[in-house]
Amino acid sequence: MAYNLLKGKRGIITGALDPNSIAWKVAERVYEEGGSFVLTNAPLAMRMGKINELAAACKAEIVPADATSIEDLTQLFEKSVQILGGKIDFILHSIGMSPNIRKSRPYEDLNYEWFMKTLDISALSLHKMLHVADKTDSLNEGGSVVALSYIAAQRVFPDYTDMAQAKATLESIARSFGQVLGQKKKVRVNTISQSPTMTTAGQGIDGFDAFFTYADKMSPLGNAPAEACADYCVSLFSDLTRHVTMQNLMHDGGFSSVGISQGIVDAISPKS
Ligand SMILES: NC(=O)c1ccc[n+]([C@@H]2O[C@H](COP(=O)([O-])OP(=O)(O)OC[C@H]3O[C@@H](n4cnc5c(N)ncnc54)[C@H](O)[C@@H]3O)[C@@H](O)[C@H]2O)c1
Repeated sequence: MAYNLLKGKRGIITGALDPNSIAWKVAERVYEEGGSFVLTNAPLAMRMGKINELAAACKAEIVPADATSIEDLTQLFEKSVQILGGKIDFILHSIGMSPNIRKSRPYEDLNYEWFMKTLDISALSLHKMLHVADKTDSLNEGGSVVALSYIAAQRVFPDYTDMAQAKATLESIARSFGQVLGQKKKVRVNTISQSPTMTTAGQGIDGFDAFFTYADKMSPLGNAPAEACADYCVSLFSDLTRHVTMQNLMHDGGFSSVGISQGIVDAISPKS
């Protein structure tokens, strides 16, 4: 069901690679709610992905940008304001990549150059985006920024390795920039800590199926799917949440508040 919650709002949506991407679902929901936006992704990912299909379905233009490049980001904001015919009301940061995870490096033996890459792509890119948005004066008063995070920022999960530090940094950047942009322009900056979700990035993590099933069994509501994450993003981009900022918002079916669930108890000690 659509409510026109984003009618007249303009935005930038990063990270839609294929129909499983969380950003893909967000784009579809934002479009349904009347928002207009520019889609962006790293130039390489755009060649591999299906972003053109999404752009056609949502009547959106695509501006390629490597989110670690200030030059690319400057072009992205300048072009987006031009294409959309006004300043930006909402931004989705949906970007994550760890070369250490891709190459299955154990935590105690990380490659430090790759570690820096993980941090740059998955966390500092949020700082760079907001820095450029501010410098180019591209943000509208009362706008909203959402970045996607994971509970490994607070708790340890095997094989999430350096992405745990990236998510902790991402959440911290959201708080710090939330203060700056809130004071300057009443712009909100929040992170959503999303359940494990079957996407390219998610399934790249060793043991992901176990993370997924365990979280699902622990959560009273079950894992939150990407579609529900998209609904939550819409609510955060809308004016209904105009006083929510600098928060890490759990979107996890209750996972983060559970010690142990009956499902896990039964799986460990089945009743005879
Ligand atoms: N899938 C999960 O279980 C899960 C859970 C919690 C949070 N998240 C987060 O959600 C976000 C989106 O991931 P997803 O699961 O939809 O997977 P995805 O693989 O569909 O999306 C990741 C995106 O990051 C983009 N990207 C990588 N390097 C980039 C760069 N240099 N510049 C610009 N874009 C770049 C990729 O091209 C891709 O589109 C990530 O931040 C991820 O960590 C995912």
